[in-house]
Amino acid sequence: MKLSYFHVSEDVPETINPDTAVVIDVLRATTTIAWALENGADSIRTFTELSELNQEALKWPSEKRLLLGERGGKIIEDFDLGNSPIGVIPEIVKGKRLFMSTTNGTRALNRVRNFNTLFTLSLPNRSAIGKRLLLENPHEVCILGSGWEGSFSLEDSLAAGALATFLLENQSNSVRVMNDELNSAIALWHFWKNNIEGCLRIASHGKRLSGLGNHDDDFACCAELDKLLIVPTQIEPGVIRAY
Ligand code: MLT
Repeated sequence: MKLSYFHVSEDVPETINPDTAVVIDVLRATTTIAWALENGADSIRTFTELSELNQEALKWPSEKRLLLGERGGKIIEDFDLGNSPIGVIPEIVKGKRLFMSTTNGTRALNRVRNFNTLFTLSLPNRSAIGKRLLLENPHEVCILGSGWEGSFSLEDSLAAGALATFLLENQSNSVRVMNDELNSAIALWHFWKNNIEGCLRIASHGKRLSGLGNHDDDFACCAELDKLLIVPTQIEPGVIRAY
């Protein structure tokens, strides 16, 4: 299994065509996706454009849909939920389709929506994704961070390093690191693995969230490693379900 990591969508070469993509947005889109599915959401449809989201949501029965998203870390006006993993509790999301748009995470998902297989990764479901990759053993995997508006983000690289480390520790003979972005992500993981929340808090988006108000519960939730068994999987372009 050949692994490459790209910091943001813009870095993914046009010509690349691996069988599998793993998209990361630790703070907070892919952590929210993992927890929403864990708590019984039926599925999540992701959008880059709010106009398209609003149009498509209207085609879904109102009692079975929720609008979830943020811009700049803040809930979108008239939406049901912001992009917080602690907000997607079973009482609210069970059986619902979530229509989701975020500043960076849903853009990264959009970039690789045509790949054969797409998973979303957060720190809580790191080993679940690692085990699924080992089981399916794809030839080539593109790990993609969401970053912030086109630039590098520390926390997504941390999770890319955590995933690669899990794969190397469990199957070192067949797993190959293909680029230096991933080599440095692995080094980052080894540096921060005993203080994951500390890493999230010093990251620039961590500081942005702290500047918006108290996000202690979000930080704790996003920093929790290997707590969930959920494998969020794209079942049709733009639609993610636990699979
Ligand atoms: C994003 O997509 O940029 C993030 O998930 C932002 C956030 O809500 O923290």
